Amino acid sequence: MNTPPDVVVFGPASLSNLGPGYDTLGLCIAGIGDVAEAWRTERAGVRLVRGTGPELPLDASRNTAGLAAALVWKQAEADGGMVLRLRKGIPLGSGIGGSAASAVAGAWAANLLLGRPFSKSELVDAVLRGEALASDGALHGDNALPALMGGLILTSAAKPSDFRRIPLSRPLSLAVLLPSVKVLTGEARAMLPEAVALGDAVRNASDLAFVVHAFSSGSLQGIGRYMMRDRLVEPVRGRLLPFYEPVRAAAMQAGATACAITGSGPALFAIAETPGVAHRVLAAMRSAAGVECRGLVTEADEEGVREVDD
Ligand code: HSE
Repeated sequence: MNTPPDVVVFGPASLSNLGPGYDTLGLCIAGIGDVAEAWRTERAGVRLVRGTGPELPLDASRNTAGLAAALVWKQAEADGGMVLRLRKGIPLGSGIGGSAASAVAGAWAANLLLGRPFSKSELVDAVLRGEALASDGALHGDNALPALMGGLILTSAAKPSDFRRIPLSRPLSLAVLLPSVKVLTGEARAMLPEAVALGDAVRNASDLAFVVHAFSSGSLQGIGRYMMRDRLVEPVRGRLLPFYEPVRAAAMQAGATACAITGSGPALFAIAETPGVAHRVLAAMRSAAGVECRGLVTEADEEGVREVDD
């Protein structure tokens, strides 16, 4: 497109699962995300044009941003359509919610082009269905809803459109390690066991309740205590990541209060008392990883998807 976009939208990255909260708990983070540029057109439908970053399908029904945007357009029963161009800032298959960031950016861009007929809460179904493309059709809200709403979000695994925002009572300093290894969410979900032991399920349910309490009361020690002993998902996925144990150990030794895989990995994140400690923790995680990594020190993003100037 040769004309400047009518709207530019930023879809933030997010950390998900957060230990025992598989498909249930997610946190929107600042400093990294995907950007959607959009133009309103007379021609009906959502048309994707090649953007920047990794190549993604340009068929709107197979692209998380394109599908979410098309669903918003349909919800509004509006004429015409839009052109969408994505600038991917989040590496594919990294574990920090790249498909969700694109889905929320596409949905919000469509909503803005339409004159903002919907609140964010009214876009939940569109973003969940867009994001599900990256999980072989499985609906889960622990990346898409934090990316949409901002902050820490608890979402029902049984019905992801049921969600609650958990207020954070203190700033979080986060170290996020992005190893240059790709893990596809659909495959990382397929490898999980269909049945688990009752004792493990009970302990996880209990730990999840305590993690949520620790986030809302601002107890970083509490987050660490209950976040780092997931019995159901992280042990399975961690075994596939040779750097999992060394990175966790290095993060804790460098002063982190908690460290876990985010989403289906391979990224790991750690929580620290201050940004200064988080920088030290990130350096320790990076040198323990033994593979090429990107990393960032960041904080929670309380705003979620939004229009930006560029
Ligand atoms: N809860 C999802 C999973 C997040 O772990 O598969 C995927 O990013």
